[in-house]
Amino acid sequence: MNATVQRSLSLEEPAAHCAAQARLHPQKADAHVRFSQLGKVYQGQQGPVAALQGIDLDIQRGEIFGIIGRSGAGKSSLIRTINRLEQPSSGRVLIDQVDIAAFNEDKLVELRRNIGMIFQHFNLMSAKTVWKNVELPLKVAGVPKEQRQRKVAELLELVGLQDKHKAYPAQLSGGQKQRVGIARALVHDPQILLCDEATSALDPETTQSILGLLREINQRLGLTIILITHEMAVIREICDRVVILEGGQVVEQGPVWQVFGDPQHEVSKTLLAPLQHALPQDLQARLHAQPSGNNASVVLDLQFTGSDGNEPDLSALFSAFGGRVSLLHGGVERIQGRALGHLLLAVSHSPLSPEELLLRARKQAQHAKVLGYVA
Ligand SMILES: Nc1ncnc2c1ncn2[C@@H]1O[C@H](COP(=O)(O)OP(=O)(O)O)[C@@H](O)[C@H]1O
Ligand SMILES: [Mg+2]
Repeated sequence: MNATVQRSLSLEEPAAHCAAQARLHPQKADAHVRFSQLGKVYQGQQGPVAALQGIDLDIQRGEIFGIIGRSGAGKSSLIRTINRLEQPSSGRVLIDQVDIAAFNEDKLVELRRNIGMIFQHFNLMSAKTVWKNVELPLKVAGVPKEQRQRKVAELLELVGLQDKHKAYPAQLSGGQKQRVGIARALVHDPQILLCDEATSALDPETTQSILGLLREINQRLGLTIILITHEMAVIREICDRVVILEGGQVVEQGPVWQVFGDPQHEVSKTLLAPLQHALPQDLQARLHAQPSGNNASVVLDLQFTGSDGNEPDLSALFSAFGGRVSLLHGGVERIQGRALGHLLLAVSHSPLSPEELLLRARKQAQHAKVLGYVA
């Protein structure tokens, strides 16, 4: 069984707009979506598959919440319990403190109108124009024509597709198709938007523009956005908090800067490895376990997790080391206003021993280790 790493959320940690949302909805201080001991078992061809086990998770109103995990981890199963596209096998899903298990057909229709969803492959009707794709759910709901027209026009403007209302899906780019998907998901003014790999079929530039649109919707409309992706950069870009699933269980969760800056669980470390400044191969080849000759430089790996809220103080670091310091590799990036990253430094001609260098490094960096020596 996986060890669960839960991180508590201190008061100042959510992104500013999230805190602003909490102030806008003071009576809804409790979780918008709460999973409580949620389990899901599928009857697979080779017997039962436990897709979700004992999930306990709160998603706050107005936040952008990311879900990551390897393929088959249970991400889609989890978000599909929120609009009951999947029926839990055990445990509960609460939306605004209301258990949705007991909902009858009418309440379920209402629930689903309150929750928009977008998908990797857009799920548009190819024989219908952009306008009709967006209008369809309003028609199904029996909304009068004049009201429908106002709503569709308003949403096409929001997603920047006013000019394309007569186009068919085949005439649109991937990004434009997803914009139609987003407009359609918002027709009933939902309070929650579920995104299952919504940018995974898009190129990086289009992904950026769709993420920009999602952020705008989150801020302007105050929607809670729950987003599954295998692209760590997407989480880093727009999420407030993130959960990592593995084998249907929560293995780690917390504010994005914290989980990305200092992942605790092996699965998280593996998923986030592409974002780390790992040791390049040429340096790896030059690295010795022992110093060779008088001129050997100590290679230090310093990690800044952002937990102290400060930017790395390079002058303090270098003067504490004495000697010469070269930057071999690494970088610092900002997530949610925190500076975090890795620096690989070579220190030579210092009067200090490697152990003393480490002690001084740890006054600035949250983690520090000696990787070896280079000539
Ligand atoms: N309808 C289904 N019938 C049987 N097994 C399923 C079904 N849907 C999903 N599963 C299984 O449940 C597990 C979790 O699937 P899923 O939630 O789709 O994961 P993810 O979205 O993280 O890739 C996987 O082992 C998958 O094969
Ligand atoms: Mg999935």
